[in-house]
Amino acid sequence: MRGLEDKTVLVTGSGRGIGRSIARRLAEEGATVAVNDIDEANARETADIIADEGGDSLTAIADVTDFEAMQTTVRDIAEAEGLDVIVNNAGWDRIEWFLDQDPDVWDDLIDLNLKGQMNGSRAAAEHFVETGTSGTIINISSDAARVGSSGEAVYAGAKGGVISFTKTLARELARNDVNCNVVAPGPADTPLTREMRETDLGEKILGGMTGQVPLGRMAEPEDIAGAVAFFASEDASFVTGQVLSVSGGLTMTD
Ligand SMILES: NC(=O)c1ccc[n+]([C@@H]2O[C@H](COP(=O)([O-])OP(=O)(O)OC[C@H]3O[C@@H](n4cnc5c(N)ncnc54)[C@H](O)[C@@H]3O)[C@@H](O)[C@H]2O)c1
Repeated sequence: MRGLEDKTVLVTGSGRGIGRSIARRLAEEGATVAVNDIDEANARETADIIADEGGDSLTAIADVTDFEAMQTTVRDIAEAEGLDVIVNNAGWDRIEWFLDQDPDVWDDLIDLNLKGQMNGSRAAAEHFVETGTSGTIINISSDAARVGSSGEAVYAGAKGGVISFTKTLARELARNDVNCNVVAPGPADTPLTREMRETDLGEKILGGMTGQVPLGRMAEPEDIAGAVAFFASEDASFVTGQVLSVSGGLTMTD
């Protein structure tokens, strides 16, 4: 065990996909997990799975794009269980050429993928600083942010923002003993990517990318959960402002 037994962790967007795997993994390591999603039925399903696996959880239904809702959510969880770690995982993408993409979609992509992570980070950081909790913020970005990715221009821009935002937060919050790190997944097999592969362009780009992965497959959500579990654990207590790519070696740049 790596110091998660007495911790409470909020995982946004944990009703399915990578977030669900993160929630299950952290519960398996002994944390109490607050399962956030905008989709209540899926959040409850994650909580039921955790209960079946012998873990502890609660559901926290909220839209991460709503800052006040995230503040209330964090306050409620903190009052009930305390709060030590937030994993800002909720995100969304659609593969389209930049020149074909309706600018209205840019707002959706930025609101969820960048501002959603800011909302969760700010709400959790306020709690950590006010209560003197040595907290942890883990933001889920994407390898698209590190190296660019055709068909994902605005998404990559938002996820790039997550990286520079998190590094800055790591500097500002170090004095409060709050660590901030980023996990950047490469292509992972989730409900989202299955939906993205329903278009010809999505299949062409995601299929092509998967074929280039040195380790020979898409990530499974559990692969991403392992990296998050490291950042959430005591093993990472001297690690802050860092980005860990989990991509089977697809990208090897710094
Ligand atoms: N799957 C991949 O290949 C991949 C690669 C790189 C990065 N990522 C990132 O990993 C994260 C998880 O992706 P996934 O593939 O598991 O996606 P997914 O769509 O399968 O799951 C995302 C979850 O977030 C929830 N959600 C969406 N909007 C929300 C909101 N406003 N408030 C609260 N919850 C909301 C959804 O209901 C869903 O349960 C995202 O940030 C994504 O950008 C995924």
